[in-house]
Amino acid sequence: MAVLGIDLGTSGCKTVLVDEAGTILASATAEYPLSTPKPLWSEQDPADWWRGLVASVRDVLAASPGATVAGIGIGGQMHGATLLDGADAVVRPAILWNDGRCEEECALLHERVPDLISETGNRALVGFTAPKLVWVQRHEPEVWAKVRSVLLPKDYLRFLLTGDKVAEMSDGAGMLLMDVAKRRWSPAMLAACEIDESYLGRLIEGSEVAGTLTAKAAAELGLEAGTPVVGGAGDQAAGAVGAGCVSPGQTTIALGTSGVVFTTTAAYSPEPEGRLHTFCHAVPDTWHQMGVMLSAAGSLQWYRDSLAPDCSFPELDALAESAPIGCEGLHFLPYLTGERTPLCDAKARGAFIGLTRRHDRAMVTRSVLEGVTLGLRSSLALIRGAGTAVSEATVTGGGTRSAVWMQMFADVMDCSMVLREGADAGPALGGARLALIGACGQSVAEACKPGPVVQTYAPNAEAVAQYRAVAERFDGIYPLLADHFSRL
Ligand code: XUL
Repeated sequence: MAVLGIDLGTSGCKTVLVDEAGTILASATAEYPLSTPKPLWSEQDPADWWRGLVASVRDVLAASPGATVAGIGIGGQMHGATLLDGADAVVRPAILWNDGRCEEECALLHERVPDLISETGNRALVGFTAPKLVWVQRHEPEVWAKVRSVLLPKDYLRFLLTGDKVAEMSDGAGMLLMDVAKRRWSPAMLAACEIDESYLGRLIEGSEVAGTLTAKAAAELGLEAGTPVVGGAGDQAAGAVGAGCVSPGQTTIALGTSGVVFTTTAAYSPEPEGRLHTFCHAVPDTWHQMGVMLSAAGSLQWYRDSLAPDCSFPELDALAESAPIGCEGLHFLPYLTGERTPLCDAKARGAFIGLTRRHDRAMVTRSVLEGVTLGLRSSLALIRGAGTAVSEATVTGGGTRSAVWMQMFADVMDCSMVLREGADAGPALGGARLALIGACGQSVAEACKPGPVVQTYAPNAEAVAQYRAVAERFDGIYPLLADHFSRL
């Protein structure tokens, strides 16, 4: 007996086949394009997601002859607006999480709902779904007139699998349409967005069965009709489930293109100014707080591609290691695509501040790693400030390949960084684990065990003290530049 976990990513769809013990038996990914038809826009054709899902599921099944699939769980990119008409046809390309067109609509929502932060636990950010809906109403009224259903990306795929329009708590919270404390849609937010509750799916927990595979979908995928499909989760909550982070206080740091610090909480506890995202977790009766940096390893990728194309990542690591902590006053601001936590500023820009003739490639490289780490430190500081003591975090993502960077994370955050087996399978494994709970009757504790520790980076007291002073300087820079960024 096995289950399928699916991760509907931004660049491709990954599917894993996982056995009852949680071991990954096979894995496949199918890529699809992203379109940016105008500055700030980021869209995808939902038909491409479906093609990616079918291709990756079929590849996994082909690699595992004889596998019996007892359940399916989907994790995926959050916040995207998939708009359907009365006949359930997609009316325009989906507007994605990394689309930045709706800044005016965010301000408008704060005007319409003065206590929006206490209503939703969050601030209105351009990445979230609700302001995207208001943007369509204001800029494409003829399109909006046709809309009868609004689904998140992975909920749309689940609808194609089961025929049921269902939403799920961890992802639903990122629509900015939920009363996150009560785990239900918020009448105040629905009124502010002028949408009827019938447009949204029935809300369920990530580990709950949402429906079963239709005969049509089963035939297309090569699976049995009637296979249960669970709620699944937004990719960050699914990734945390995959890394075994489901108990209060457990923390993960995902160091991919974006960077996320994620902590599970036993109760709804929003950050008063809404600088952290406060969402439901994918398992019942738990919530999470997370800070999101939009260009984390993405900053290093940009730096390599634009300024050091002749260097491999291991060469950049060696250069960074040879430079002193704090880079003699050189700081890199990693806001290449604006910033969410802690700035909530879509207009923030990247910068190198403090260059002198002494700054060579080694120090410039180190400043990039330090800037990303110091930015994410602010997210952890907000989480700690909200009352969670964090002394250990499981780190996932491409950035974990750099030992220099991992030690820097431990020292900057004064927190042990732990690498675990399997944690990198992330959201797809999380989806599979949710299916083991919902479709196969496993308990949360049984299905979501953290993988064995592969490596631990412990903080070094001397470096921790040095970085404290560096962090103070770093934190002082953005406030001096914010007005300038907004004028550019
Ligand atoms: C979370 C977020 C990203 C996207 C895409 O708030 O925006 O994790 O879900 O990965």
